[in-house]
Amino acid sequence: MCGIVGYIGDREAEEILVKGLERLEYRGYDSAGVAVVEAGGAAPEGAAGNGAVGDGQAKGGAAAIPSGRLAVRKKKGKVGQLREALGGTNGPRGGGLRGSVGIGHTRWATHGAPSDVNAHPHTPPDGRFALVHNGIIENYAALKERLQEKGREFESSTDTEVLVHLIDDVQQATGLPLEEAVRQALTQTVGAYGIVVASAENPDFLIAARNGSPLILGVGDDGEHFIGSDAAPLIEHTRQVVYLEDGEMAVVRRDGYDVKTIEGADLEKEIHELEWDLEEIEKGGYEHFMLKEIMEQPTALEDCMRGRINPDKGQVLLGGLTEVMDRLGSADRVILVACGTSWHAALVGEYLIESLAKVPVEVEYASEFRYREPILREGDVVIAISQSGETADTLAAVREAQERGALALGVCNVVGSTIARETDAGVYLHAGPEIGVASTKAFTCQVCVLAMIALAMAEGRTLADDQMQAHLDALAGVPDKVRTELKRDEEVADLAKVYRYAANFLYLGRGYNFPVALEGALKLKEISYIHAEGYPAAEMKHGPIALIDRFMPVVFIAMKDSTYDKVVSNIEEVAARDGAVIAITNADNHELDDLCEYVMRVPETMEYLSPLLTVVPLQLMSYHMAVMRGCDVDQPRNLAKSVTVE
Ligand code: F6R
Repeated sequence: MCGIVGYIGDREAEEILVKGLERLEYRGYDSAGVAVVEAGGAAPEGAAGNGAVGDGQAKGGAAAIPSGRLAVRKKKGKVGQLREALGGTNGPRGGGLRGSVGIGHTRWATHGAPSDVNAHPHTPPDGRFALVHNGIIENYAALKERLQEKGREFESSTDTEVLVHLIDDVQQATGLPLEEAVRQALTQTVGAYGIVVASAENPDFLIAARNGSPLILGVGDDGEHFIGSDAAPLIEHTRQVVYLEDGEMAVVRRDGYDVKTIEGADLEKEIHELEWDLEEIEKGGYEHFMLKEIMEQPTALEDCMRGRINPDKGQVLLGGLTEVMDRLGSADRVILVACGTSWHAALVGEYLIESLAKVPVEVEYASEFRYREPILREGDVVIAISQSGETADTLAAVREAQERGALALGVCNVVGSTIARETDAGVYLHAGPEIGVASTKAFTCQVCVLAMIALAMAEGRTLADDQMQAHLDALAGVPDKVRTELKRDEEVADLAKVYRYAANFLYLGRGYNFPVALEGALKLKEISYIHAEGYPAAEMKHGPIALIDRFMPVVFIAMKDSTYDKVVSNIEEVAARDGAVIAITNADNHELDDLCEYVMRVPETMEYLSPLLTVVPLQLMSYHMAVMRGCDVDQPRNLAKSVTVE
């Protein structure tokens, strides 16, 4: 997730900004940059783009830049590399950037691969101002087209540069002050943003605006103000903060700040006292990244769907697949390749694509697919699913598919990752960085993307308009339902307490929830080291039933769907053998209360979306058991987040 820091005061800004970016490193990022308003003078040679920009000469008819100029440095890679590029006291200019107003950013790519050019801050051609942005501008493609028609050229592939040009365009056309131009430009954007703007023309001035992406203003002593995407970069300077809300904009000067709504109405903001320490802030107040990421799922799912589904029009628009959509929709066969949790998401994808788009699907472990000389025909489409985009076996499967002439698509979370780059087209999850080793929000976003792919394949082929609308309405409603079930965290923790010493667990489900049984078992074993197996519920009779006794907790996913009656029969079989049944079922279903030791309830949704809801209590249960057993939840033994070896 991107990070933002801003500073205005009397100290040198560079070190405060870079230190602030280091504090934001925990959020995950792939590039970093700063812009500092320096006193006027010529820019160093070759200073555009990945160096200093702003030469004191306004081009293109904008207001002349009086004395300040913006020096920008940005680098792909770690903040340490940015530090090196800045040169510090040994730098080519006998020091780093000189100025006491500036902004900084750590970027986690969403539009355009990680690179120096795509890193923030971004500036208009004359370097009059610099802008950093967290979030996604949904209508950036339409805005970009409009601006290109006016002759504007873009250096980067980011949605952020589009916003910069839009602000510039508004200001050029109207001659309005920068804050007004920012305000007007923002009213033309759709999507989520937290932005901070620094101006070369006005060195006593920062603009911050928020809609969907958090921003905090830190009020320091002696005319110092700080801005952060969270409190991590502020806490060593001040504990007095003002939280900007969605639709609010602040103009920050050394002697104070004004907060208005984006529509221009004045606001009185309360100053709050920060009570958290740095470690608590990095994890958003949660004890572990895994819990934070479980709790982030509603917003991750919203980001994943943002700008891609339009329930009113019954449309799905997956920009990354536009060029291949005809081929995908008319595929003879889809082969999903993945490992681990991503393979479980692929199994849900198999049900989704077959039932919605009526195209045959096979799901393969990437490690098996790559070595068994797979038979691929024209008309086959291979989709690789990988959170990291770097898993060695999945990457090898992509290469194998391409060598055999298949169209290879990617569903990745990490933008610019190897699988994302090497596949012919693809869809990003936009789940934000996943830091905990156990995959949680990536799984739900993978299922969400696969649902969108299935619906896009079905659009105009196998689903009528009204059916599409109903499906998309249901999909759009999922994040709020996940929010509701996350409120039951304490109930799940109580359950975990009861079973935390069990040595074995069985997870059973059918249909769409068979892969969830596998995922529940994997989550438990990898972080709590309790042995757990997942099976299709009907398979129980073919072997696992021999294990059932009162020491064997059995988790059933028993949603009221087309398989419900059969699952209830399986529950009865376990109960009859004294097994301890924990069931996950619909919120209003009490039929299982007498048969089960525990019932976890999840909100109602369409059958094919239920994995997005049923997996959540299982993630929470694994998490709590692991914590209660004293395990290292975020870095379980022997496991790596990105498996880049076979
Ligand atoms: C389990 C887990 C792993 C990964 C697997 C594939 O919680 O995280 O099973 O799902 O290693 O990784 P990606 O999705 O990065 O290819």
